[in-house]
Amino acid sequence: MKSPIYDYLHHVLENVRPDASGRVAGYIDVLAKADPSRLAVALATVDGHLYSAGDDTVEFSIQSISKAFVYALAIEDNGLEYVLSKVGVEPSGDAFNHLSLQKGSHRPMNPMINAGAIATHSLVGGPSATAEERAERVLDVLSRLAGRRLQVDEAVYEAELRDANRNMGLGYMLKAAGILSRDVDPQEVVKGYIRQCSIKVNVRDLALMAATLGNGGVNPTTGEEIIPHDSVRQVLSVMTTCGMYDSAGDWVSRVGIPAKSGVSGAIIGALPGQIGLAVFSPRLDDKGNSVRGVSMCEKLSTDMGLHMM
Ligand code: DON
Repeated sequence: MKSPIYDYLHHVLENVRPDASGRVAGYIDVLAKADPSRLAVALATVDGHLYSAGDDTVEFSIQSISKAFVYALAIEDNGLEYVLSKVGVEPSGDAFNHLSLQKGSHRPMNPMINAGAIATHSLVGGPSATAEERAERVLDVLSRLAGRRLQVDEAVYEAELRDANRNMGLGYMLKAAGILSRDVDPQEVVKGYIRQCSIKVNVRDLALMAATLGNGGVNPTTGEEIIPHDSVRQVLSVMTTCGMYDSAGDWVSRVGIPAKSGVSGAIIGALPGQIGLAVFSPRLDDKGNSVRGVSMCEKLSTDMGLHMM
């Protein structure tokens, strides 16, 4: 028998379904072909219950949501102090792919913009890791967070790579600034970053990944400790201030949950000690966040009293 939570999740979906505002991301041709009507929601509790509704088995590329988890890996593999010497924690107020570094330190502003995410990808596995080892470590850890083996969407990867001038530019800028280490090839790092963004997930995977953050780094369904507790605190802090790009302030006041969005139209939210949530709807607002995704999160936060304050 289905519990009332399923009726509630369907209600959340139907509440936003008529909203056809926003546009599917157009800058990667494979994403531009995404079905804009897709709509899904999932909730995972820290005691291991997973509920979902709508297009909850439809897969899409994880995109920028991966940045939060790869930041955790960079910290685990290099220590927080070293990572902070390479990537800052301040909101940037600029677009996610902005070509700029902090004055003085030459660090990217934070790990959630592309410059910072390319830098954190380069740190995965520590100083001696090869490009293959970095890619495999990212795929392995994201899979363990989701509780199943994930795959890369090769079509998304190839499409992004065909038009990667801006990210390649960021890679070379980071190399010239000494943020990428001497023996790292910027092109290899950017390819690895694009591969990381191309990993396929559904909302159920994302809700479990978010619930792992909410559960102090322990996957609530498998019981495996995947992210050290200290890194979880750092990741959630940066998600709170930088996870929703330049609408972070609006998000924190309206929804009040540490979160991360991606251009394929997904958003995750993680509330420590309580819940991980994930929503998916491909049409984006002018800041790059899913329109119906933001509305669903706001409703969930209000109805379930999830706001941190
Ligand atoms: O770097 C890029 O352009 C994408 N692979 C990731 C972008 C992303 O999801 C930014 N988010 N809103």
